[in-house]
Amino acid sequence: MRKNIVVAIDGPAGVGKSSVSFQVAKKLDIMLIDTGAMYRSVALRAFNSEISNNTPEILELAKNLNFSFKIENNKNIVFVNGEDVSALIRTENVSKLATDVAKNGDLRKILVEKQQKLAENSSVVMEGRDIGTVVFPNADVKIFLSATPEVKAQRRYKELKEKDPSVSFESILEAMVLRDKQDSERAESPLRKADDAVEIDTSDKTIDEVISNVLSVIETKIS
Ligand code: DC
Repeated sequence: MRKNIVVAIDGPAGVGKSSVSFQVAKKLDIMLIDTGAMYRSVALRAFNSEISNNTPEILELAKNLNFSFKIENNKNIVFVNGEDVSALIRTENVSKLATDVAKNGDLRKILVEKQQKLAENSSVVMEGRDIGTVVFPNADVKIFLSATPEVKAQRRYKELKEKDPSVSFESILEAMVLRDKQDSERAESPLRKADDAVEIDTSDKTIDEVISNVLSVIETKIS
């Protein structure tokens, strides 16, 4: 590759964003920055320190976090100040807290700056909600993944049912519709497709098909 490139992959929960971003980063052999993990990490640390959202303390906490990412054993590991928090940030409680934290505009500014810095010296795949619109409006490649609410909930249901057979599809669909609504309707950097992003509807596609679609978009844009 000629220069450092930024591949922005945005979209709501349940569209296969993480799996697709992971395989694309692996294939290109470049860093994967999972920005949702950054919001989750702030939420986790704030919760553990009993710090509320919308306080000066949470901004101070966020400023003092140093994030790094490393693909290891077929996983993207998230380190916060050197601690591997990958598993700790994947609970339903942290998901809910992170959605709230992500509404805080001042906090977003702090994390956006850190996201831009992470991509200063290397090529990256960056996944999130506002990468193509706010973090890297000039990204070399912008992808927006979408799917119907039912398909997204079905995917999440399959994933969660393995851990907890008592989960219901309806409750997952309801939680997902609510989270998407909150992410799309919030005042600060709402989830939306950048005008120049390539949208891929993943509803009727396998992950492999989506990955190969994304790779061919990248090839067209970069060559
Ligand atoms: O992708 P995720 O579920 O790990 O994201 C956690 C929360 O953070 C979710 O509510 C969306 C929000 N988020 C955001 O507002 N902006 C980003 N760039 C990434 C995630």
